[in-house]
Amino acid sequence: MEGEGIKTLISHEELDKRIKEMASEISRDYAKQDLLMVGVLKGSFVFMADLIRHVDCNVAVDFMGTVSYGASTKSSGEVRITKDLEESVAGRHVLLVEDIVDTGLTLRYLLDTLRNRQPASLKVCALLDKPARRRVRVNLDYYGFIIPNAFVVGYGLDYAEKYRGLPYVGVLENPEKEKK
Ligand code: IMP
Ligand code: MG
Repeated sequence: MEGEGIKTLISHEELDKRIKEMASEISRDYAKQDLLMVGVLKGSFVFMADLIRHVDCNVAVDFMGTVSYGASTKSSGEVRITKDLEESVAGRHVLLVEDIVDTGLTLRYLLDTLRNRQPASLKVCALLDKPARRRVRVNLDYYGFIIPNAFVVGYGLDYAEKYRGLPYVGVLENPEKEKK
């Protein structure tokens, strides 16, 4: 059953409160600019949907898809783009929206890729920051929560495509059992 074997780490209420705070910070910072929010698929779609509804400025959205090779709960370090942007980012104010930053390799790769396309500005907004396993230094301009070194699911985040629809962020208690 959905939600079984999962321990709540961040409740729906906590997410809601924090996302509203992040949205008002973003609204203030981009008050005089047109913003292009770029969601990193798939995990960020729930977060971005909630964030955008609280952001009070001119926002356009686009998405990028990535996969990192390797076992399902570990990043191997190689990143590949599976879906690219539909619009050009040249001269635009871009905010990259991520669900979680773990090793930082995905974000590093995306930042390098987007920076080459010469946006007017490029910032990062991540719901979750898991610094324990960071392998490359990345700066998060906006972040929701710093979390411990555990594999989390829900609120867009999956384990083998499961649990994305949970309204909270939880820790998967026994990932090995899930493999069956
Ligand atoms: P990174 O490249 O290691 O920073 O992480 C890249 C991606 O791995 C994230 O955008 C997530 O999609 C996924 N990921 C990392 N940690 C977790 C987790 O705890 N739960 C679910 N997905 C995760
Ligand atoms: Mg992701």
